[in-house]
Amino acid sequence: MQRIMVCVYSLLAMVLLYSDSVDVDASGLLEKAPVSDTCPQVRMKPAGQCKDEEECPYQITLPPLTIQLPKQFRMLEKTMKELQNLKETVRQLRSICLECREQADMGLHKDSTETSDKGRGDVHTRGPGNDSSGIAIRDIQVKMSRMATSLKNARGQINTMQGRLDELSHQSLGKMEAMVISKVENITSVISRLNNTCSSQCPVLASPAHIRVPSDCSDYQVMGQRKNGVYQITPDPKNGTFQVFCDMESYGGGWTMVQQRINGSLNFNRSWTDYKKGFGDVHGEFWLGNDRIHLLTKTRDMVLRIELEDFDGVREYAKYDMFYVANEFLKYRLSVSGYSGTAGDALHFSKSFNHDQKFFTTPDKDNDMYPSGNCGNYYGSGWWFDACMSANLNGKYYHKKYKGKRDGIFWSTWHNMTSEYYPTNYRQAFKTVKMMIRPKNYAP
Ligand SMILES: *[C@@H]1O[C@H](CO)[C@@H](O)[C@H](O)[C@H]1NC(C)=O
Ligand SMILES: *[C@@H]1O[C@H](CO)[C@@H](O)[C@H](O)[C@H]1NC(C)=O
Ligand SMILES: *[C@@H]1O[C@H](CO)[C@@H](O)[C@H](O)[C@H]1NC(C)=O
Ligand SMILES: *[C@@H]1O[C@H](CO)[C@@H](O)[C@H](O)[C@H]1NC(C)=O
Ligand SMILES: *[C@@H]1O[C@H](CO)[C@@H](O)[C@H](O)[C@H]1NC(C)=O
Ligand SMILES: *[C@@H]1O[C@H](CO)[C@@H](O)[C@H](O)[C@H]1NC(C)=O
Ligand SMILES: *[C@@H]1O[C@H](CO)[C@@H](O)[C@H](O)[C@H]1NC(C)=O
Repeated sequence: MQRIMVCVYSLLAMVLLYSDSVDVDASGLLEKAPVSDTCPQVRMKPAGQCKDEEECPYQITLPPLTIQLPKQFRMLEKTMKELQNLKETVRQLRSICLECREQADMGLHKDSTETSDKGRGDVHTRGPGNDSSGIAIRDIQVKMSRMATSLKNARGQINTMQGRLDELSHQSLGKMEAMVISKVENITSVISRLNNTCSSQCPVLASPAHIRVPSDCSDYQVMGQRKNGVYQITPDPKNGTFQVFCDMESYGGGWTMVQQRINGSLNFNRSWTDYKKGFGDVHGEFWLGNDRIHLLTKTRDMVLRIELEDFDGVREYAKYDMFYVANEFLKYRLSVSGYSGTAGDALHFSKSFNHDQKFFTTPDKDNDMYPSGNCGNYYGSGWWFDACMSANLNGKYYHKKYKGKRDGIFWSTWHNMTSEYYPTNYRQAFKTVKMMIRPKNYAP
């Protein structure tokens, strides 16, 4: 903190500051006592001639009072006000002291009329010798001691004021420091608040300059990432960061992978807890996890894209403009609509087979619409079963067409599906399945 010493001169210069005691010795000798420590420069000297050889005015010279104050930004004004008050006090004191000096002068004057005739206040020249002189000297002694008392009082008051001034300057310094510290603390808290606001809100904006914590793969795309791979995302800063596989190359990129089947290496006949938390390896086959899918679809309006490929190398897709998975309390209920694509809208196959608004069911948790059994258990899969299904992308991975219970990966609107039973009685198998999501307002 920069400090400039502000010197206030002469503010109190007019204070009657005659701090020395005045004594008259037994022989009537009037003299100035030795100069005291507090006011070394006070001078008292005769001023002019004694009138009528009796009136002998004295002049008292006081040194200017110098007060040193620290620089204080806004406190300076306040301090100046206090100084003004102090000045007023001093002025009053001064007038009191002037009165007291007048009294003293009058006393001197009166006394000196009765003292000898030789020269000003130089009573030493008086000859000793008569009754009236003795009375006069005693009178002088009384007057002078009264004056000394008055002056002593004045000195006491002035010392008190001096102390107050010192204290004031200390206090001001302390106050100013406290104020600066508090300001700095305020600024720090504001900065950290802004910081928090930024880290939680800025990623919602789709501008690269504002993305601090990528919320999903599209943020990495916006930031210039163009390579498929595993990235860290934070859909909700309050609920942690996790890794996902991002498809940055297909269909404009920015896709967050939710599910993938590529070679049947992973068992999808799993418990509620497994589906909740996710399983598998994001590089290969996996289910991202219902909690994470919920977080992702809760944070932003998401589009779902489903990619299917059969063992004949036929690839088709289904795209839904709206995809939302509720939280666990609502049994991860599916909301899906706005189909477009080539694979057909198998999620809304018919009135009796419609996966929209259906709860999630696993072999160990029956939330489906089938009254006398668990579709998840029957098909060995976790899915938004109706009663039971026109689509099930978490079915068993068959490496080729199969016969029997239709527990494989299923998409009811796949081409040729109506010929599934005839003439071969074989069921369709899929080589690859991908489920991926991207913000609805994303523009590649
Ligand atoms: C003057 O006073 C002294 C005592 O201070 C006394 O001795 C002397 O007698 C007085 N003179 C006269 C004339 O009374
Ligand atoms: C610090 O901020 C609070 C409110 O955030 C305010 O009430 C207080 O006056 C501020 N302190 C200073 C020294 O600015
Ligand atoms: C802002 O927040 C981040 C973590 O969210 C922290 O690492 C960083 O130190 C903070 N910056 C300031 C100036 O508080
Ligand atoms: C946040 O994460 C915890 C643990 O993964 C989970 O229990 C909780 O439900 C999540 N909260 C939300 C809002 O998804
Ligand atoms: C399946 O694919 C994953 C990832 O590419 C690979 O690690 C794994 O070995 C494959 N398993 C089989 C049985 O092909
Ligand atoms: C799923 O796994 C359970 C054992 O965990 C098994 O009893 C059941 O038959 C399996 N379902 C299917 C369709 O494979
Ligand atoms: C399946 O459909 C394709 C055209 O998508 C057709 O060429 C093929 O003959 C059909 N297969 C059967 C078994 O119907």
